[in-house]
Amino acid sequence: MVQTNENSAAGWQREIYLNGFAGHRMSVPISLSTLEQQAEKAMSPAAWAYIAGGAGLESTVANNRSAFEHYKIVPRMLRDVSNRDTRVSLFDQTFPSPLMLAPVGVLELVHPDADVAVGRAAAALDVPYIFSNQASKPMEEVAAAMGMSPRWFQLYWSKSRDLVASFVQRAEKCGCSAIVVTLDTTMLGWRSRDLDGAYLPFMEGKGIAQYTSDPVFQKLMDEPADPNVRRTITAHSLAGLVKMVNSYPGTGFLNKLRSGRPMKAVQKFISIYSNPALTWDDLAFLRQHTKLPVLLKGVLHPDDARQALDYGVQGIIISNHGGRQVDGSIGTLQALPAIAKAVNKQVPILLDGGVRGGADMFKALALGATAVCIGRPYAYGLAIAGQRGVYEVLRHFMADFELTMALAGCRSVAEIREAGVRE
Ligand code: FNR
Repeated sequence: MVQTNENSAAGWQREIYLNGFAGHRMSVPISLSTLEQQAEKAMSPAAWAYIAGGAGLESTVANNRSAFEHYKIVPRMLRDVSNRDTRVSLFDQTFPSPLMLAPVGVLELVHPDADVAVGRAAAALDVPYIFSNQASKPMEEVAAAMGMSPRWFQLYWSKSRDLVASFVQRAEKCGCSAIVVTLDTTMLGWRSRDLDGAYLPFMEGKGIAQYTSDPVFQKLMDEPADPNVRRTITAHSLAGLVKMVNSYPGTGFLNKLRSGRPMKAVQKFISIYSNPALTWDDLAFLRQHTKLPVLLKGVLHPDDARQALDYGVQGIIISNHGGRQVDGSIGTLQALPAIAKAVNKQVPILLDGGVRGGADMFKALALGATAVCIGRPYAYGLAIAGQRGVYEVLRHFMADFELTMALAGCRSVAEIREAGVRE
């Protein structure tokens, strides 16, 4: 393989074409539809349903895309774009591109190295990675693989405040520079594909590594189990039990099985992970437990954005969870202009959901976002080619964005804002 060290679009384009000349293709396809198709082939049907699926009729997934189609870039010519600066600053840190990795849980469904592979790929490019609360690897392990490169932590607010505090403290210790509270998943959405397959990875003990590695959660596991949870023993449930024991940290299958801890972990997780009683006033608790900037993920209404400012949060992530929670919801880009107006540049706005290339990044920035996050595309790269696959997906997005910016006549992110987009 021909390697160039530059992270510029031109360098990456050259590498792709030189490799092609030498008879080598990149590990992951550049076309998003081919990327999806190959990822589907690389995954089990249950994993594909979990990763690719959305809620209900999946109209929110479609709305995310159509919102991007609704806005058009109007390129400007003859503006000397030989020097280009794609950097953005957020909370006193500068990142190479307005691109971040959204938190995606249960990545062990996709690749055994899961979050660690993603962390390494992100670190190679200094692209910030938002660790998922539902990760397959404990945050400490991923942080250790990332050196000093940027990472944030995404929190699901469980029924145990002690656990919330513990997660946040661990995140601070492992170098996370912001806390993202996801608001839209106080219950799991009606995910038709997963329901059809009657499959939830958490029941096999997958995606609960932040919990099983947590001292507070380990204590919570000793509390009596919920007597309302009944299980029927079948060959299938025994296979699930084996997976559950294997997913639990530590060695020695029989010892783990005899300890009963893997089963207790799953039961405890199921009973505490969601908290539909959460309200704005709970945010004060988080403020008492961290000095890090707090961002709210899942904001779609300008009044919620205003309220977030009133409650003193440091940032907003416009998100509908990639269409996995409320079917028939507004596309994220469609929500952006009104929220940008309400926020009036007081705090940074990030956006995710259906971002599938450099043009989408451009449009989000033109409408007032500071940066965007991607979810499924990097999970697809991970499925196809592990760490290298994630790395390539990131390079593709970064290169596509830089070229779109320049070819539209902009030299920097600030100029994209001035340029705007047309409806
Ligand atoms: C997610 N998302 C998510 N969000 C979050 O706050 N915590 C999480 O653990 C997860 N887990 C998760 C798993 C899977 C399989 C997907 C696809 C998504 C939502 C994610 O952060 C992001 O909002 C969307 O993925 C963005 O949309 P796209 O880029 O996937 O269209």
